[in-house]
Amino acid sequence: MEAKEVLVTGGAGFIGANLVRWLRKHRPRWGITVVDRLTYAGNRRYIEELIDDGSVHLVVADIADREAMEGLFDRRPFHGVFHLAAESHVDRSIMGPEAFVSTNVVGTFVLLECARRHWEGRPGRFLHVSTDEVYGSCPEGSAFCEETPYDPSSPYSATKAGSDHLVQAYHRTYGLDSVITNCSNNFGPYQHPEKLIPMAIRKLRDGCPVPVYGDGRQVRDWLFVEDHCRALVEIFDRGEAGVKYNVGARNEWRNLDLLHRICDGVDEKLGRPEGFSRRLLTFVDDRPGHDRRYAIDSTRLTGDLGWRPQRDFSTALDFTLGWYLEHMTRIWQL
Ligand SMILES: NC(=O)c1ccc[n+]([C@@H]2O[C@H](COP(=O)([O-])OP(=O)(O)OC[C@H]3O[C@@H](n4cnc5c(N)ncnc54)[C@H](O)[C@@H]3O)[C@@H](O)[C@H]2O)c1
Repeated sequence: MEAKEVLVTGGAGFIGANLVRWLRKHRPRWGITVVDRLTYAGNRRYIEELIDDGSVHLVVADIADREAMEGLFDRRPFHGVFHLAAESHVDRSIMGPEAFVSTNVVGTFVLLECARRHWEGRPGRFLHVSTDEVYGSCPEGSAFCEETPYDPSSPYSATKAGSDHLVQAYHRTYGLDSVITNCSNNFGPYQHPEKLIPMAIRKLRDGCPVPVYGDGRQVRDWLFVEDHCRALVEIFDRGEAGVKYNVGARNEWRNLDLLHRICDGVDEKLGRPEGFSRRLLTFVDDRPGHDRRYAIDSTRLTGDLGWRPQRDFSTALDFTLGWYLEHMTRIWQL
């Protein structure tokens, strides 16, 4: 495998940290720089041993800081950018959208400008990691494809949609070699405990009520983070410039059914009586603008690049439950 220098933005966040770990293992000749502002969602501990042994270089900076990003691109001859840094929590975007505009829109613009300037006349690829939430809510019986019109519902998804359009415009206008990925909900290790699966595990472990939005019948299409990381590298290596790729495992779950599985899994692991945790589920008012259903069609990715999810959902969820119960205290002091 050819030696490369790559920049991973948001590499101290959930998916970014999993990606950095995957790259370190499977692309040993690649030089990896992480730029991360270490917001509440980023955590040095996620990739600590890789920073400490010198195999990953961490730069703590804001991607919306033009001077800092220009300096970084000046110092390192990147062949590619995996752009994952973002404000990513929908509830927070409803409470305070400004940070979402700054990081997701302005930050992406700054990185695109750096890439355009530094890659003039030489190869460099910009992989922009986005979400299926840009498509809005998906009617029953269908799935989002790459041509589905954008229809974002939350400030989070609106800023991600804006950043996708910027990336596409830089390809069309300036010929930047870029690819966009839109993936469904990820789960796995190193996800911030404010997100559904780790939040539920933590509260159930502590015997606390777990809030369930609305009637709990919203459908999400779940993807194990390691399968997502493999897809990203596959698309970075072989995807077609200017093309969008949906990433999903066709693994749809109603929130309530997923929570029931988590309850039963936690009870089993903690040796509790059957049904103990299900009683902790508590219905609360629905989130405003809550999309009812997401479902993603990844035919382009499976057909053109041969990617397939490798982890079976039950095994991956069971692994994830065990991982949080074991690591929650050390990593987040929870
Ligand atoms: N988690 C999912 O299920 C999911 C699904 C689809 C798409 N995505 C996309 O994948 C990407 C990664 O998501 P995640 O779940 O790992 O998010 P995350 O919130 O766990 O991590 C985001 C990381 O970005 C960093 N960051 C935030 N603002 C920054 C800034 N201004 N400058 C530099 N770093 C900054 C944070 O410190 C954090 O480390 C995001 O772009 C998100 O939109 C996530």
